[in-house]
Amino acid sequence: KANERESMYLVSEYAQEFFSKKLWESETGKAIALSYFKERGFNEETIRHFGLGYSPDQWDAFTKAALAKGYQLDYLEKTGLTIVKEDPSQPDSKKTFDRFKGRVMFPIHSMSGRVLGFGGRILANNVKAAKYLNSPESDIYHKSKVLYGIHFAKQAIAKEDNCYLVEGYTDVIQMYQRGIHNVVASSGTALTPEQIRLINRLTQNITVLFDGDPAGLRASLRGIDLILEQGMNVKVCLFPEGEDPDSFAKANSYEEVILYLESNARDFIQFKTSLLAEDAARDPVKRAETIRDIVNSIAKIPDRIKKEVYIQECARIMNISEAVLFNTLAQVDKKNY
Ligand code: CTP
Ligand code: MN
Ligand code: MN
Ligand code: MN
Ligand code: MN
Repeated sequence: KANERESMYLVSEYAQEFFSKKLWESETGKAIALSYFKERGFNEETIRHFGLGYSPDQWDAFTKAALAKGYQLDYLEKTGLTIVKEDPSQPDSKKTFDRFKGRVMFPIHSMSGRVLGFGGRILANNVKAAKYLNSPESDIYHKSKVLYGIHFAKQAIAKEDNCYLVEGYTDVIQMYQRGIHNVVASSGTALTPEQIRLINRLTQNITVLFDGDPAGLRASLRGIDLILEQGMNVKVCLFPEGEDPDSFAKANSYEEVILYLESNARDFIQFKTSLLAEDAARDPVKRAETIRDIVNSIAKIPDRIKKEVYIQECARIMNISEAVLFNTLAQVDKKNY
């Protein structure tokens, strides 16, 4: 089984090289894929650093090349790079297709830098096909256990003692190029405890930077409780409507991005309170709901001292007595255990 996994890593690493070569050396690669990345604002150094690539718009260009190099179809199929279909009319003949045909490629690395899988983006916008296609679950790629960019970010996360958590591939890359290196992406999946534990090996502090849209807001709220449950500290910074870290870092200088992050990152209590609009803040029912919601989050913190500190902060911000909050906390705790 370990041998099989090693074979799958080797196939994936070959694929990464193949896609890169097509991006930099083939005429179509240069004309449509390299120029696509450049239009997004990525420079050549960045494109090389992240190992970006292009999967040709042909049925089986990659599969053919890999087979010719001696890689076994079995592993090409197991990594999901090749889709194998049997023709029902000819039971002995199998047809092979490249999963990522015609897409720009984002290799996904493990903490130690091995290629586990890929995200492939369609080039044209507003086409019917899914914008991103990802490697399927396999013995080497478990999407709930990987964070995009962790290999490139790990040193900076430890050094800064903070990890910026974004949604997508391009958010990581654009922030990195802007000079902010402690960034990883959950890649659109709902954040998982395993992903948070990966960060926990490097720092106790996470700043969530999800997209400025309703989905990003929902994901931020879900992320908060999950991070608190792991005993970690969480801040949230929302982006302006319609912006994500990619578009924001593309349009602003390093100093401007840092200034935005520093002046808009809030701890989770301030974040939840600030979601209350001005008038809702004067609505006692909404205010009560918010307080209950915050206490529910505080209840997830394993550390007693931190819990108490946050209760005090909540009491202060929401202008309510600590005694009432401690009572509510005790009720929530009882329900949970
Ligand atoms: N995603 C996915 N499949 C989709 C859409 C999104 O896997 N059909 C994942 C990708 O990892 C993507 C992330 O969710 O990077 C965030 O989604 P979204 O904000 O829609 O995409 P962006 O990262 O902003 O991509 P782009 O700027 O290229 O449009
Ligand atoms: Mn495994
Ligand atoms: Mn989005
Ligand atoms: Mn986005
Ligand atoms: Mn985007």
